Amino acid sequence: MKAKKLNIELPPASAARPSEAAKKLVLGEPNLQAPSDTSMGIAWTVNVLANGWVEYADNPRLDNAKKVVCGGFGLTGFDDRILQVRLVDLRPNTRYWYRVAAQHIDYVDNYKRFPLDVARGAVHSFATLGAKVPSHFCVMNDTHAQWKSFSLVTEKISALKPSVTVWNGDASNLTEKPETGIGIFLAPPIPRPGYAADMPVLWNNGNHDFRGIWNRKLDYFVMPRLPSERSARDWALTRNWAVRVGDIAMIGLDTGEDKPDRHPQFAGLVNCEPYRVAQTTWLVDQFKRPEIANAPYIVAFCHIPLFDPRPDEHPGGLVDDGGGKYRTAYAAWEKSCADQWGPVFALNGVQLVIAAHQHRYRFDPATAERPWAQIVGGGPEMTPNAPDRFPTVIEGKVAVGELKITVHNIKTGSVQAEHAFKPRA
Ligand SMILES: [Fe+2]
Ligand SMILES: [Fe+2]
Repeated sequence: MKAKKLNIELPPASAARPSEAAKKLVLGEPNLQAPSDTSMGIAWTVNVLANGWVEYADNPRLDNAKKVVCGGFGLTGFDDRILQVRLVDLRPNTRYWYRVAAQHIDYVDNYKRFPLDVARGAVHSFATLGAKVPSHFCVMNDTHAQWKSFSLVTEKISALKPSVTVWNGDASNLTEKPETGIGIFLAPPIPRPGYAADMPVLWNNGNHDFRGIWNRKLDYFVMPRLPSERSARDWALTRNWAVRVGDIAMIGLDTGEDKPDRHPQFAGLVNCEPYRVAQTTWLVDQFKRPEIANAPYIVAFCHIPLFDPRPDEHPGGLVDDGGGKYRTAYAAWEKSCADQWGPVFALNGVQLVIAAHQHRYRFDPATAERPWAQIVGGGPEMTPNAPDRFPTVIEGKVAVGELKITVHNIKTGSVQAEHAFKPRA
């Protein structure tokens, strides 16, 4: 049978437009996001329209590497700013080596797409989470795009080499342009923009991470949790996590914005109050998971504190929300979250809450009524003549039968405080 001639033009790569072909594809440093025991998110920047993938293997030579393309089924991810890949079906407690790659595509229209140059990044590595990795985490918070302190904080964490780092909110100030989010999360203007190329980061929203039109699209910069981690009921809880890191169960909760939803400044565009309720139901269920309920240590993380010893001292006046949830015009601490989550913590033996938001380190020991302690991390300020203002790295590590928390003062380069927690009875 005579072959039918198809009327399809298949131009060679050399037919690409000279102007596009002249642009060199440049890859940013990879950023390890949303880690779990069996999955890892990887995001990185590109400077031209590109298709991307990750090559990964269980050895540093990348022998027998697997390739995972950007995006989901159907179409690949294809973007001129950010590419994202999710590795799944990984083994817990296991180190993998990987590199990111992309191919510049000269896109004229759907039928004129010309593959151009391919670029590959350097080989990096990560370890998945699990009950057998070192019981060791670090926390950074309220970085607020202050690059001097952000660089010092990330260098400190890099030197401490934890299994995982919690970024406990307020990375942002106000994100009205995509370049702002890219700078904050993926390409910070610091000497080592690849701060998370070998360090997986568990992300928690702060109130500032809800601000600006592009923080409504935060998934573009920070990958959400894998849907299979939660039930269908909790499909919208894309930011909560409960993971084992060695002997420690770590739980991430989102305190949301820092004012009542009906505050005039929000113009009806904030819906955090039902969000907090939904997280309470999710939180209760996490303690039905043996690896969480039976962990020797349980630590919860959220941005806005759940307790303040000076509830009436904050300026700004009172807001009457009819339910007494907010005592000030903004939440210096989140009473509605404390009222909902605090009893669940008490019932299930949570020992410590690590919070942020107030930009001043503080330790609130446990009491008979509130059997969990709280540590509040510092802010980004490096002001020399304000001794109570300093960035912190909060390090948690299990050694010699206890969870030792070391609060590193990043401004002075010294240890600010140490706290120890015995294993749960
Ligand atoms: Fe903050
Ligand atoms: Fe905050």
